[in-house]
Amino acid sequence: MASSSRLQLAAGLIATASLVAAAPCDLYASGNTPCVAAHSTTRALYSSYAGPLYQVKRNSDGKTKNIKPKIAGGVAHSAAQDSFCASTTCVITTIYDQSGRRNDLTPAPPGGAAAGPGSNGFDLPADATAAPVTLDGQRAYGVYISPGMGYRNDDTSGIATADEPQGIYAVLDGTHYNDGCCFDYGNAETSNDDTGNGHMEAIYFGNNSFWGAGAGNGPWIMADLENGLFSGMNPEENPNDPSITARFVTAVVKGKPNHWAIRGGDATSGGLGTYYNGARPSVEGYNPMSKEGAIILGIGGDNSISGQGTFYEGVMTSGYPSNKVENQVQANIVDARYATA
Ligand SMILES: *[C@@H]1O[C@H](CO)[C@@H](O)[C@H](O)[C@H]1NC(C)=O
Repeated sequence: MASSSRLQLAAGLIATASLVAAAPCDLYASGNTPCVAAHSTTRALYSSYAGPLYQVKRNSDGKTKNIKPKIAGGVAHSAAQDSFCASTTCVITTIYDQSGRRNDLTPAPPGGAAAGPGSNGFDLPADATAAPVTLDGQRAYGVYISPGMGYRNDDTSGIATADEPQGIYAVLDGTHYNDGCCFDYGNAETSNDDTGNGHMEAIYFGNNSFWGAGAGNGPWIMADLENGLFSGMNPEENPNDPSITARFVTAVVKGKPNHWAIRGGDATSGGLGTYYNGARPSVEGYNPMSKEGAIILGIGGDNSISGQGTFYEGVMTSGYPSNKVENQVQANIVDARYATA
């Protein structure tokens, strides 16, 4: 091999290595649309993050333990959970925000639609072992949401409000869904009540077709913008929003003044498709938006608790991410090698 091509090969290896090393939130930061919330029970979402990913609480004595990545930027140290929870059961009590803004998620308080089945009407936490997977061959656990479970933070920092731009992605189990309302991840009301059209901007995943639907029988990635699950501008139907068949799905919803988009793909291979990219729904209340900046996971904005699904990782950004950055994030997710355990 000529020395010049050897140099090119070395440069290529370095470029590849640094691309792999850049985690989703490093990539969003490089696009000037930084993560303002980063949640995952499976891995660090910054290449340098070594802090707690989530907290488990065990049934035997009520003690809690934080689970961290094995190395900075790495996969969750699930063996620490396994030994802490040995011969008892554990639930996930906190999903920490890796962005440094303390936008942590804890079981959601009661809302206008429903009180949860937990104490004082709070939603139940997820079983800590119900969604085992591997990333790059290493065992980790997702957040398995059944109806009555859900997480929330009503007192956030840096999350978009009003008509400010934001992006969201989540990696979900494409085979765990229902038609209840609403398995969501994203921006919602700070009051736990339905305060009107445009007061939410969250990813919805499932086959609820009450407000709108995509092609086929679902499940679909849609946007919960409050008082509607939207697959596109027309709330009734968007034939370009496909039924999802992947076991692991990457779901994207992003919005800015009078513009929003839905994107998605198989989290284990290939790129992201754009399922909608255009104007806000023409129904009154969605342009401009009235986002409030709370964060929900597994529930609707008014604590509707009939949805189900499984969440592995997701972020919310400040600013409207470019397709280019999202495509790099998708490549990083594929490199994480999600697989069934
Ligand atoms: C949603 O999917 C489930 C499972 O395939 C099915 O039983 C249910 O009827 C579907 N709901 C709707 C509204 O299509």
